[in-house]
Amino acid sequence: MTSEDVTRDGPRLPAIRLGYVGVEVSDLPAWEKFGRDGIGFHVEYCDEKLIFRLDERSRRIILWEGPRDDVAWFGWEVDGAEELSAVERHLRSLSIDVRPLSASDAALRGVGQAIAFSGPMGLPFEIYCDPVISDQPLKLNGLSAFAAGSSGIGHIAVLVENMADASEQIKTMIGANPTDWVEINRNGVVTSIAFLHSNQRHHSFAIAETSGPRPEGMKTIAHLMVEVATLEDVGAASIRCKRLGYRIPRDVGLHENDGAISFYVVAPSAFQLEVAYGPVQIEEGQCWETSTYDTDSRWGHKPFN
Ligand SMILES: [Fe+2]
Repeated sequence: MTSEDVTRDGPRLPAIRLGYVGVEVSDLPAWEKFGRDGIGFHVEYCDEKLIFRLDERSRRIILWEGPRDDVAWFGWEVDGAEELSAVERHLRSLSIDVRPLSASDAALRGVGQAIAFSGPMGLPFEIYCDPVISDQPLKLNGLSAFAAGSSGIGHIAVLVENMADASEQIKTMIGANPTDWVEINRNGVVTSIAFLHSNQRHHSFAIAETSGPRPEGMKTIAHLMVEVATLEDVGAASIRCKRLGYRIPRDVGLHENDGAISFYVVAPSAFQLEVAYGPVQIEEGQCWETSTYDTDSRWGHKPFN
């Protein structure tokens, strides 16, 4: 997929993919255990930061001690400096305040250069290029690999007040377009979810709105999905998380729309991680037909505990 291929009716912008996440956490050792022993990330410390590696990149998830217990920034990757400038020009044309990151802030994220701005739904967004490749071997724990190539590491899911408004913001700001929608009616409580793509990945954004009560203690995101390379990786990670006693609100199941087999586990900072295998890709030149589904899971995804 070329950078021009991601949009059909939104602004023509370079493809962006989720590349890194920064999280301020109240219990760093708990995250270390969760990340290494539960999920299976490569774990290392650097300057009192806990670093999770998923692949050859030096940093994918960066965690530090603090009271917020929430995601502090989302890093979205573009191909290079030219694409970064194009996104920056576009954001400035929308009168969005764009701030270049300092060399030290970029180094903290393991990238060459980056810009920061208040993104869709006010989320702390950053766009970057020139990721740093590690010269150290990758040591995953009980996983064959993460699938974190040209589609990024995964997606984010956010619960919002107004799904249509949030989707429009994502489209306007970064050129992502709808992939499909899910509308679920459970005993009169309606949950609507919009799925949007900004690269080959079926969705980099899942935006949900519900007529029911907002869950207590809701964080910036409902969940962060990371894609693994094999079905066995999903099964093995779910077994590790169960043995370690982590809460599994949705055990292994199959998503109706993107075809991913996944489970959801509650991370030490209350938001969830989805570990998924096999979501469909939107191939280059493919004419994607949007659909609306009345369920998000064909089977499974039931609470384990
Ligand atoms: Fe998801």
